[in-house]
Amino acid sequence: MSKKSRGLPAHVAIIMDGNGRWARRRALPRYFGHREGVKALKTAVRYAAERGIPTLTVYAFSTENWRRPREEVDFLLDLMYKTFAQEIEELHKEGVRVRLVGDRTSLSQEIQAVWARAEQITAQNTRLTLNVAFNYGGRAELTRAARELASQVARGELAAEEITEERLASQLYTWPSPDPDLVIRTGGEQRLSNFLLWQAAYSELYVTDVLWPDFGEKEFEQALQDYLSRERRFGQVSAKEQNR
Ligand code: IPE
Ligand code: IPE
Ligand code: MG
Repeated sequence: MSKKSRGLPAHVAIIMDGNGRWARRRALPRYFGHREGVKALKTAVRYAAERGIPTLTVYAFSTENWRRPREEVDFLLDLMYKTFAQEIEELHKEGVRVRLVGDRTSLSQEIQAVWARAEQITAQNTRLTLNVAFNYGGRAELTRAARELASQVARGELAAEEITEERLASQLYTWPSPDPDLVIRTGGEQRLSNFLLWQAAYSELYVTDVLWPDFGEKEFEQALQDYLSRERRFGQVSAKEQNR
């Protein structure tokens, strides 16, 4: 694998965390923070496109988020539905291709229909691919991939020895997006929370205390600049150490 330390990331993934705290700090109910978070998402999408980043993946709802109070879960489902139903024409105009990454089969028919339409309308767009991780969990994704490969082996379509890293990756929800070069987490927690467990193997991690609704262009640019200042080694010796 070649060393890739220069140039903007080809794929940025964001764990959009801190909406609840943003609202609580203002003595508002948590859902105000989620609503404000949608505005930050629109800014991030616009900015990624402007900066020429080809792929953006955003973590909007995890498989673990079902454990939240019923009202909050319902609010988040509704917010996602309304946002993408409303914004799809605008996203299409902006040249954004949208994809839902996660288990859609357990979402409502209405949500599945909105996404099927959004994916179909924007399928040919090439400016920015926006992967929305909703009802997404890294472990669930890998389990599903293992199950699919096992079925192929059982049907005699594949030999066990033919299961390579590439073939496994091709069964993931994010396929064919490349692995993220940079994973940003807002809200200060230093964990992955089941996000892109396979794909983030060599991603640069950037954690900021800024809460998601406050994450604007300036904060996004700061993350990109931090990324640009890093040396990615991919297990190799530092460039400075070579030829010594
Ligand atoms: C992120 O904000 C949005 C989702 C997980 C859906 P949170 O709702 O987790 O906000 P905090 O972490 O409680 O502040
Ligand atoms: C991660 O945030 C999931 C999303 C941003 C969608 P959480 O708020 O759910 O993560 P934990 O619970 O703090 O690990
Ligand atoms: Mg949180």
